[in-house]
Amino acid sequence: MRHKLFIETYGCQMNLNDTQIVQSLMVESGYIIANSIDTADIVLLNTCSVRDNAEEKIRNRIETLYHIFKKRKTKTILGVIGCMAERLQEKLFASNQVVSLVVGPDEYRKLPELARLAFEGENGIAVDLSKIETYNDVIPLRIDGLTAWVSIMRGCNNFCSYCVVPYTRGRERSRPFESIVEEVKRLNNQGFKEVTLLGQNVNSYSKSATILNDATQEEITNNSNKLKSDFPELLETIAKAVPEMRIRFLTSHPKDFSFELIQTIAKYDNICNYIHLPIQSGSNRILDLMNRRYTVEKYLNLIEQIKQAIPDCVISTDIIAGFPSETIEEHNATLAVMRKIRYGSAFMFKYSPREGTKSFEIEDDVSEEEKIKRLNEIIDLQNKISFKENQKEIGKSFEILVENPSKKNKNEWFGRTKSAKLVVFDNSENKYKIGDLLNVKINKATSATLLGNII
Ligand code: 5AD
Ligand code: SF4
Repeated sequence: MRHKLFIETYGCQMNLNDTQIVQSLMVESGYIIANSIDTADIVLLNTCSVRDNAEEKIRNRIETLYHIFKKRKTKTILGVIGCMAERLQEKLFASNQVVSLVVGPDEYRKLPELARLAFEGENGIAVDLSKIETYNDVIPLRIDGLTAWVSIMRGCNNFCSYCVVPYTRGRERSRPFESIVEEVKRLNNQGFKEVTLLGQNVNSYSKSATILNDATQEEITNNSNKLKSDFPELLETIAKAVPEMRIRFLTSHPKDFSFELIQTIAKYDNICNYIHLPIQSGSNRILDLMNRRYTVEKYLNLIEQIKQAIPDCVISTDIIAGFPSETIEEHNATLAVMRKIRYGSAFMFKYSPREGTKSFEIEDDVSEEEKIKRLNEIIDLQNKISFKENQKEIGKSFEILVENPSKKNKNEWFGRTKSAKLVVFDNSENKYKIGDLLNVKINKATSATLLGNII
């Protein structure tokens, strides 16, 4: 009998892409993908460790699954994979004995064999980090046929002081240039309409990045600062190779965002006019404590350059509220920068201390109540800005890529502009289908979506 696998994915796009990689590896070894946990006899949670509330969700989910699986007549294997597996390792076996597989982000090739042993009653763990693994030869199991993620690099060398990612995903390593371009061409031939190039820090993508054995954090940082990024060249090669595909990329670090990259984005119509460029804080003292290696002035200058070269570019960001020692003035400086830049959207978080990171050693002295207050102020301000920025789109026309019908109302469908804004349109006569490129004129807008008529 072939076993049935179901994976629940938490966290970022990298994890969504990794889930497809794991599915591919497991299918190759004879597993079948189940539609839900109800029919699965092996369930994997692909997890995120970036904030404690992300881990809390998983802890609760493990507890719930323990009760569900206990009632079953046959054994269901539960595995934890991804960042939390890497961070907590064998501690994950302890809780209620329900977890029998723990596999970190660089060890997915071992999953089929460890899963086989788990069915025989043996717990399996694999959590070594690799300096070379990119799963370059694994074709992710993609289903929707519309938009595809393509991982171009893994890991991170930046060591932002609050961030657990360099510890859970290891050192930065780039995939070979040609193999990325070939994969995108193949996706184009298969009918995919859009590709998102993925990495923790895509604009430090390098053809020749060398990984120093046992290098210190300082050595790694110095070395990666010296390397010229090949990301603009990669983007340009892909833009030329698949002119009819939309090209997106995630995530960019402001310190590595070169003028050459801005020019490349501006030059090609199929490179989307949307950039996710996390600022994290509007205070130079806090940015320094965060080890972000740019100042507010440098960041603003970068935004200015982007807006000059790509006037309709939409920029989104990540912001952390209540970093250790952040004063009210420094929090207000973040609000001031948001008013100046007017982001299209933002992902906003309360600071969450992560054991093992540099900032874990600084006293987490902003009270929970104060963090919530600051976060709410940031969210309220961003909602107002998003609403006003979206009002400006009323009367304008955009090309949208049709994504899917709304869950609430089957007559309403969603599409996305090149600038990544969601547009709702009427499809009650079922004239349009997923993957269509349509022109819409916007007639209404909220802070989160635009409403348009097909023209
Ligand atoms: N606390 C709060 N937010 C964090 N992020 C990363 N680590 C933490 C943390 N310890 C946020 C950053 C990052 C995004 C992916 O998650 O804003 O850009
Ligand atoms: Fe974390 Fe900074 Fe690397 Fe992003 S760039 S993954 S925030 S360490």
